[in-house]
Amino acid sequence: MKIGILTSGGDCPGINATIRGVCKAAINHYGMEVVGIHGGFQGLFESETEPLTSMSVSGLLNTGGTILGTSREKPFKKKASEEEKNERTRLIIENVKRMGLDAIVCIGGNGTQKSAYKLSKIGLNIVTVPKTIDNDVWGTDQTFGFDTAVTIATEAIDRLHSTASSHRRVMVIEVMGHKAGWIALHSGIAGGGDIILLPELDYDIKAISNVIMDRFKKGHTHTIVVVAEGIKTLNGRKAGEYVAEQIEFETGIETRQTVLGYVQRGGSPSALDRILATRMGSHAAELVARGDYGKMVCLKGNEITSIKLSEVNDKLKLVTEDNDFVVQGKRIGICFGK
Ligand code: F6P
Repeated sequence: MKIGILTSGGDCPGINATIRGVCKAAINHYGMEVVGIHGGFQGLFESETEPLTSMSVSGLLNTGGTILGTSREKPFKKKASEEEKNERTRLIIENVKRMGLDAIVCIGGNGTQKSAYKLSKIGLNIVTVPKTIDNDVWGTDQTFGFDTAVTIATEAIDRLHSTASSHRRVMVIEVMGHKAGWIALHSGIAGGGDIILLPELDYDIKAISNVIMDRFKKGHTHTIVVVAEGIKTLNGRKAGEYVAEQIEFETGIETRQTVLGYVQRGGSPSALDRILATRMGSHAAELVARGDYGKMVCLKGNEITSIKLSEVNDKLKLVTEDNDFVVQGKRIGICFGK
């Protein structure tokens, strides 16, 4: 068998470990031939591939980014006419045939799962692996990349405590997460955040300000506010900037903001992410070998299993009010916005 691997959407630590996992299992255990498709789904149109061997993926385990390159290009554009869609379908099928691919492993987040599902519906043999630092892919307990991002964000929060305390300030830190607040929730708890704001839960600036003033009255030297970038703000203002400005206005306490940004996505994966990526990659090769297509590899408890792409399609895994992190967080005195 000959299989192609592509990586699509925002990159994250652990993609290369996944590529390595798929390749090593596919080549060493199942005797397959593997090629890497460059630049995400765009690579299906341009047929830009490179052969991947056990040797060529050696040494990838601890590296950041993706050796195959990525893009947010979708195989089927939303606004395309029926005619355009048919033409793109024809092109993809023709190219996949020409490349001699029996199956394609797509590594990506929610957008990728959606596109991959469409590819499987036009008859291609597709297996996917979920990846995103946001951890918001439905159907898996965790995505690789998330643990690394939480570790980086936690270290950043740890570092903000001392400078906030020296200056008796409020520190607002904005972390990634447009729709889902998993990074803010986990790093906020791990880093000892006092207030955590998530896109999924409403917040009230007056309530937050009262919590902050109360803390200072009790003798606390500083307050740490962890904000997910996707929280609602007035006129779509940037989350960290908006919250910091509003807090300073309401409390009169000097407030600073830090936007963590892309460092959360770059660099070497944590041990946990390397292991998760390797297991998921190897499992993807197993699904291909079994001809078990139209599936996404997933983590359930401590077991790697798989779920139908039709079930994952168009869903998001979001934080809910009854999530144990939120429930226990409230019990230890963390304010989640109200
Ligand atoms: O990969 C998910 C994510 O990291 C979001 O949390 C973030 O907002 C987004 O990607 C930004 O990515 P880009 O600027 O590459 O589109």
